[in-house]
Amino acid sequence: PVPVIAIDGPSGSGKGTIAHRIAARFGFHVLDSGALYRLLGAAAQRHAVAFDNEAALEVLAAHLDVQFIGDDDGEARILLEGEDVTNAIRTEEAGRAASQVAALPRVRNALLARQQAFRDTPGLVADGRDMGTVVFPDAELKIFLTASAQARAERRYRQLLEKGFDASLAALVEDIQARDARDTQRSVAPLKPADDALVLDSTDLGIEAVVQRVIDAARS
Ligand code: CDP
Repeated sequence: PVPVIAIDGPSGSGKGTIAHRIAARFGFHVLDSGALYRLLGAAAQRHAVAFDNEAALEVLAAHLDVQFIGDDDGEARILLEGEDVTNAIRTEEAGRAASQVAALPRVRNALLARQQAFRDTPGLVADGRDMGTVVFPDAELKIFLTASAQARAERRYRQLLEKGFDASLAALVEDIQARDARDTQRSVAPLKPADDALVLDSTDLGIEAVVQRVIDAARS
């Protein structure tokens, strides 16, 4: 089978950055599964579908019209129904919407095959919450990347400022804790390490150090 490196973990643990670095190193494709949930949240808003209307969201998920352009260089553009929503789906509001629609079993099921279709030669780095537990249970390597809520909020804060968004650190800490609670306590695909995952705590580890550990694990 085509190799998959699954990288799961909570909000702000640095999965996206690590996933792109690892993919560049091995020449692999990248799946940003969180983007799919963010896109579904955006589509729901656009079509005035409530975030708890499971039946309507399932239909929306099954027909989600998205395009990932240039997905391998970290500079990807994301189109929803032909419109560039790359930046729009990165707001905290979009993250909250994503975690609400992501709690619905039929929504997750409707997005399953779409995620698995990203598996393509020579390999895939899959970033998410349930890559190693549900979507790619046979992944060759499973990483669970975590860090303290404070460290993750600080990273998110810097990212938002860099992108020109306004942000409050205190609000971000609260938001991260609320999102952690929702992601770990939901009934389907709750956020937790796969039994065979390598758990890495990046609170005191820089990006390069984390990348090196993942590469070492991939080679062993
Ligand atoms: O970057 P951040 O972790 O804040 O967000 P994300 O990875 O884009 O994911 C946004 C939300 O989508 C998360 O809070 C999860 O609730 C949900 N999600 C999920 O349930 N399963 C995934 N594989 C990826 C994201």
